[in-house]
This record gives sequence, structure tokens and C-alpha cells, in this order.
Amino acid sequence: VVAGRAIVNGQAVDLADAVLPVTDAGVARGDGAFETVGVWSGRPFRLGDHLERLACSLRAVGLPEPALDVLAAEAARLCDDLGRVDAALRLYVTASGTRVLTLTDPPVRKEPRNLVVQVAPWVVPVGVSPLAGAKTMSYLPNMAATRLAQAAGADDALLVNTDGIVLESPTGCVLWVDDGTVHAVDVDLGIVDSISRRTLLDLAGAEGLAVRVGAWPVAAVERAAEVWVCSSLRPLVTVRRIGDVVLPADTPLGDRMGAALDRLRRAA
Ligand SMILES: Cc1ncc(COP(=O)(O)O)c(C=O)c1O
Repeated sequence: VVAGRAIVNGQAVDLADAVLPVTDAGVARGDGAFETVGVWSGRPFRLGDHLERLACSLRAVGLPEPALDVLAAEAARLCDDLGRVDAALRLYVTASGTRVLTLTDPPVRKEPRNLVVQVAPWVVPVGVSPLAGAKTMSYLPNMAATRLAQAAGADDALLVNTDGIVLESPTGCVLWVDDGTVHAVDVDLGIVDSISRRTLLDLAGAEGLAVRVGAWPVAAVERAAEVWVCSSLRPLVTVRRIGDVVLPADTPLGDRMGAALDRLRRAA
């Protein structure tokens, strides 16, 4: 268990004391960007990739480049003397120039085993919105997508674009196995450039599995042998159902890749 800690504009505080004024653009307008980093066995996994993606998100919404070296040093400070526990590290940079880092226990959430198909609210019909793929602090559409899916009796949404092309889940990447090949969605479709997705594709290559990146309709995922959801705070989760379509219970590749991912995340 991690006692909540935070650093607000360089100041170390207890999590309970990490407060922002209501006039901060992050609070008033959700104007800012954030990252959620998995801390596995005491170590932030691929922190450099997360910092780069934070810079990309801020650029996408016209905000200035963040001081990545400062954020890296603050992240290291926050995880110092943590011991080999799992935790969630979050970094926020708001349009007011506010920098917040928090370290908490990983959230307890329903695993996304049963998904329902939903059009992603942030993908416009023609082309791709310039905000697509940016982890802006206005995450309400993502949170609402999960709530709608749960109201429909599922655990989460399988988000598609208006052409029915599979994208991602509201807080995770989606990959699947068809004919022994690992399939992943092209980031050019406007999905978050997920670090878990990148890592799983690297691992699949290292394990000698064939990998394809592209664009596929829901039907292609429904007939897959295995469907996986993953994100920085989650292990690889194997999906059981998409709408009324029940997926095979046996997930040998997901089990193998999930174990490999866990080993890599926890490697000292
Ligand atoms: C919309 C969306 N897709 C995918 C992901 C997974 O990204 P990562 O693996 O870098 O955590 C996230 C993470 O929060 C997300 O919000």
C-alpha cells in the first residue's frame, strides 16, 4: 500500500494537501494534459515514453513544451524509497503552467472482459480531429463511454469510428490474435499511442509472432481467437465477450504475452 504522495509545482505534499485553486485552467476548464504511468515493483515503466507523449498531447492542443527534465526529476523523487510495490504515477500539466504529480495505489477497477461496441465520441466523421490521440485533461468523453457501456450491461466499451473501424477502449489499447498473427490498430486512426500497445508489439516480435498493424471492422475482432485490452495500470486482460459474441475461453497467447509483459514491467 502506498501512502498517497504528491508534488505540486515542485513542492512535496501529502496527497490530501495536493489542491489546485478553482481558477487554475486545469480545474476551471479541464485545460491541460496528463499521463498515467504504471509503477510495477517500485519502478515507473517506460517513463521516458510517457514524458514524450505528454509533450505530444500538449503540442496537439497548442500548449507550450513542458520541462521534461524537471518532470523526470520530480517523478524520480516521488518514487524514491518506495520499495517493490505497484502504484499509479500521474503527471498533469495545465494551461496555467501548473505541474502536479501524484503517486497512489493502483485503482481497483472492473476488468474489461465484456465489451459493447460504441462510436468513439472524439472521432469526427470526416478525417481525424486534431485532438484525437491527445490525453487531454478533458477525459469526460472517455469516462462517459465506460459509464454508458456499463449501463448497457458490459464492463467497458469497444470504441469504433463512424465507419465501424475498431479503435481502442476508453482507457486502454485493444489488440487481437487471428490466424496466429497479433493485430493492432494503426495509431493514424486517431487512437492514443499506447505505451502498452508498443510494448506488446515489441514483445510479440521478440517471441517470433507475426504482427500486423492496420484498420479492421468490428467483425474482424469478433471472429478473432483472442482479444486483449491493456493499459499502463492494467495487466493484459483477455476479453470474453463483444456484444452477443462469445470469444474462445482458451487464450494461450494472451496468457504467454501477459506473463512476458508482467516480467518486463517488473524487471529491475
Ligand atoms: C484512450 C486510451 N487509449 C489507450 C490507452 C492506453 O495507453 P497506455 O498503454 O500508454 O497506458 C489509454 C491510457 O490511458 C487511453 O486513455
